[in-house]
Amino acid sequence: MTSQIRYDNNSLYIEGLPATALAEKYGTPLYVYSANQAADNYRLLRDSFDIIDGIRFLYALKANSNPEILKLISALGAGADTVSAGEIFLALRSGFAPESISLAGVGKTDDDLDFALTRNIGTIIAESDEELQVISQRASKIGRTAHVSLRINPDVDARTHPHISTGLKDNKFGINIDRALDSAKVAANLKNVEFAGIHSHIGSQITEVEPFAEAVRSIAEFVDKLGKEGIRVSQIDLGGGIGVRYKNALTHDLIPVENNSEHPIDLRSLSQVIKNGFSSLDCELVMEPGRFVIAESGVLLTRVLYRKESSGRKFVIVDAGMNDMMRHALYSAYHQIAPVELSVGKSVMVDVVGPVCESTDVFAVQREMPEVKRGDLLAILTTGAYGYSLSSNYNSRLKPAEVLVDEDYARVIRDRDTMEDLV
Ligand code: LLP
Repeated sequence: MTSQIRYDNNSLYIEGLPATALAEKYGTPLYVYSANQAADNYRLLRDSFDIIDGIRFLYALKANSNPEILKLISALGAGADTVSAGEIFLALRSGFAPESISLAGVGKTDDDLDFALTRNIGTIIAESDEELQVISQRASKIGRTAHVSLRINPDVDARTHPHISTGLKDNKFGINIDRALDSAKVAANLKNVEFAGIHSHIGSQITEVEPFAEAVRSIAEFVDKLGKEGIRVSQIDLGGGIGVRYKNALTHDLIPVENNSEHPIDLRSLSQVIKNGFSSLDCELVMEPGRFVIAESGVLLTRVLYRKESSGRKFVIVDAGMNDMMRHALYSAYHQIAPVELSVGKSVMVDVVGPVCESTDVFAVQREMPEVKRGDLLAILTTGAYGYSLSSNYNSRLKPAEVLVDEDYARVIRDRDTMEDLV
C-alpha cells in the first residue's frame, strides 16, 4: 500500500497538496488528514478478513469522531462502536445506520442507555451484573427490547502499554470469564432484553497475533459452555486493538532511519486465527477497529518557536502542546517527527517539547533529527487516532483546526477555536 503522506523531492505532501501551503493557509498547530489513506486502511482491513463470511467492522469513534471523518468511514460501509450518548448522536448524524451501532462502556449513565434504546441501536454491551438489571429496567420503562451482549474479560495479556491493556482480570472492564456463565444466564432471562452475544476487547495497539489467539480460544470455549446450557450466542465481537506502525512512517535520505523494533501485525494470519478459532460456531463476527482505520491518515503540523540549550541538552520548542496531542504525555508514545521541508544539513540530538506548563509536555526525548530553526515546520506523524479526540483547552490554549485532504482538494472540517470558545 503506498502512503498518501510522503515526500515529493524534499517537501512533505498530503495526497496532492504540499504541507507547507496547508500550514500557511490554515495556521499551526494543524491536524491534516488524508481521506484516501483512511479509505485505503479500511479496505486493507476488510480485504484481509474476506475469508470470514459476513464479518462486520464497527469503527471505534473514540479514535477520531470528527463528523466529516465519520461520514467518510460510514460511506465505506462500516458500523459504529460508541461509548456515550454523544458518540451515538454523532454516529447517527454522520450516516451510520442505527442497527449498525453498538454502545460499550463500563459506566453508562441512565441517559446514555435511554438515548441508545430510543434510537434503536443495534447492541448494548453490558459490563456488569448490576448494569444488566438497569438495562432491563430502562428498556421496560421505555417499552423497547434491548439487544445485549456481555463483555467478558478473558484474562489475556495483550502485551501492550499497561494503560491501554484491558483484558486482564484486575482491569475494570468486562465480567470475569469465570463468573460470566452466571451473568449470561441472568441476561438470557431478563425482561425486555434479548441476549445477543459475547464481546471482548483486550487492549489497544496490539502488534502480535498471539494475544488475539488466546482471547479467541477462551471465547470459543465459553460460547461452547453457554451452548451446553441452552444459551445461544448469535454474535461474537472481538473489540478493537489492531496496532499500527509508528516508526519510519516517512523515509528519505535526509532523515534518520528510526531504530525499528516494531513488528506490524500480520492481518492475514490474524484473520486466519479468528476464522479457525470460531469455525465450529454459527455466529456473526464483529470487530471494532479505531486506530487502524484512522491513525496513519493524520499528521499534526507544528511550527518551531524557539531552540534552547540547557546543561548540554538541546530543546526544540514547538507551537503544538500536550493539550493538542497528549499520547506522549499519557503513554510515552512514540511518534515520528520530521521536517516538512528537507535540506542537506547535519543531524542533532534534541528533545521536542510544547509550550504547556507541564514537564510531560514533550513529543520526543533525545531524538536524532535534522537541525531545525525558528519558523521551520515539523510534522508529527501517525496522529489521526487519539490525537484530536484526546485534545483539551488546558492552559486556555485554543484547540487546533482540522483539515481533510482528498487528492488536491482541502477543506476545513473543524475550525480552530477562538477566544470566545474559551468562555
Ligand atoms: N472497542 C473498545 C471496547 C475499546 O475500548 C476500544 C479502545 C476500541 C474498540 C478501539 O481500539 P483500537 O482499535 O483503536 O485500538 N488513547 C489510547 C487508546 C485507548 C483505547 C481505548 N479503547 C491511545 O492513544 O493509544
